[in-house]
Amino acid sequence: MSHYSIKKLLLGVTGGIAAYKAAELVRLLVKQDIEVQVVMTSAATQFVTPMTFQALSGKPVYTDLWQPDNGNGMAHIDLSRQVDAVLVAPASADFLAKLVHGAADDLLSTLCLARDCKLLVAPAMNQQMWNNPATQRNIRQLQHDGISILGPASGSQACGETGPGRMLEPEELVERLLSSSQPKLFAGRRILITAGPTQESIDPVRVITNHSSGKMGYSIARAAIEMGAEVTLVSGPVALQAPSGANTIPVTSAQEMLAAVEANMKNQDIFISVAAVADYRPVKTSQHKIKKSAAPLTITLEANPDILATVASRPDAPFCVGFAAESENLLQYADEKRRRKRLPLIAANIASEALGQDQSSLVLLDDEGAHPLPQAPKLMLARSLLQHIAAMMDKNRVG
Ligand code: C5P
Repeated sequence: MSHYSIKKLLLGVTGGIAAYKAAELVRLLVKQDIEVQVVMTSAATQFVTPMTFQALSGKPVYTDLWQPDNGNGMAHIDLSRQVDAVLVAPASADFLAKLVHGAADDLLSTLCLARDCKLLVAPAMNQQMWNNPATQRNIRQLQHDGISILGPASGSQACGETGPGRMLEPEELVERLLSSSQPKLFAGRRILITAGPTQESIDPVRVITNHSSGKMGYSIARAAIEMGAEVTLVSGPVALQAPSGANTIPVTSAQEMLAAVEANMKNQDIFISVAAVADYRPVKTSQHKIKKSAAPLTITLEANPDILATVASRPDAPFCVGFAAESENLLQYADEKRRRKRLPLIAANIASEALGQDQSSLVLLDDEGAHPLPQAPKLMLARSLLQHIAAMMDKNRVG
């Protein structure tokens, strides 16, 4: 999909019980600083009043092709020209059928036909209606016409039946909308990312590891893919699904991670070292399980290689980004690390607030100083971090 960023969105609401969820959708979109213009079909107004959407969007709601206050009477053209995308949520079976045929008998269907921007639809209907061959045929045709189909989800339905046809939840719709519209800042670029913890074996059943969940590294991989990068993800043991579109290489120990990173280093433009690599490993891994006894047990540890420092000191080093999780003196320790490892950029956070969490805050440290990113889901932080990297690389190229 070519790049389009969404600042202004036209939200079409059609007649289905999920119309009440569209109110929450407007609230979430506005929270993302997206300007929302709502257009309702006549059937939609039977479920929710235009006033609800007007209050949430801060704009008058259009419902009628023949509204005399539509300026030049060309609302169907004007409205779709003023926005970056049209999202119809919920999209009823009837509305999908109208789109397939290019019907234009009300304001929403007419402006969809007249639009020159991206159209996305979030179907919502009874499971039997969704499974009907006519609807499935329509969906295939819409996909063929370049219209994005978001959902539907499966589950219990307002009619009491269970199955596919529920509209995606508003949070998920916002996420899908944002992810499909990320600027393609890294098209043609290759990014290598490490994520998760490492495990250092003591014996066949015991390991030394840490609380890293891999969520930050996986979020960065996903955001980088959305922005057009070719991503290699070297991952320690985590309970996360590999991001689709990434070349994911599973590893266990720090030494394995270093070997995988070096084997994949060629032609990388950027290296983002998010993994919480164990700093030490047992000097000896016992071949058999160490037997329990009352006597104290001493395990001698030796230092693991520093993967990031190793990569950053290569003559052909890519743009290197480190992470620093600290429990105190965050900015001072992180910047010391950045200088020691010779990194243009390091992302710092408080370990207890970041490790394993879905949300976090970050401070980006570079030669120009500290750039705080406030508390947000890790995917949002990942997008901001990548935008910062793109801006730094752009500046380096120009300067
Ligand atoms: O462990 P430390 O706080 O120095 O980690 C800072 C950065 O160095 C992180 O980006 C981490 O991924 C990287 N690192 C590494 N290899 C190690 C230790 C840390 O690549 N052995």
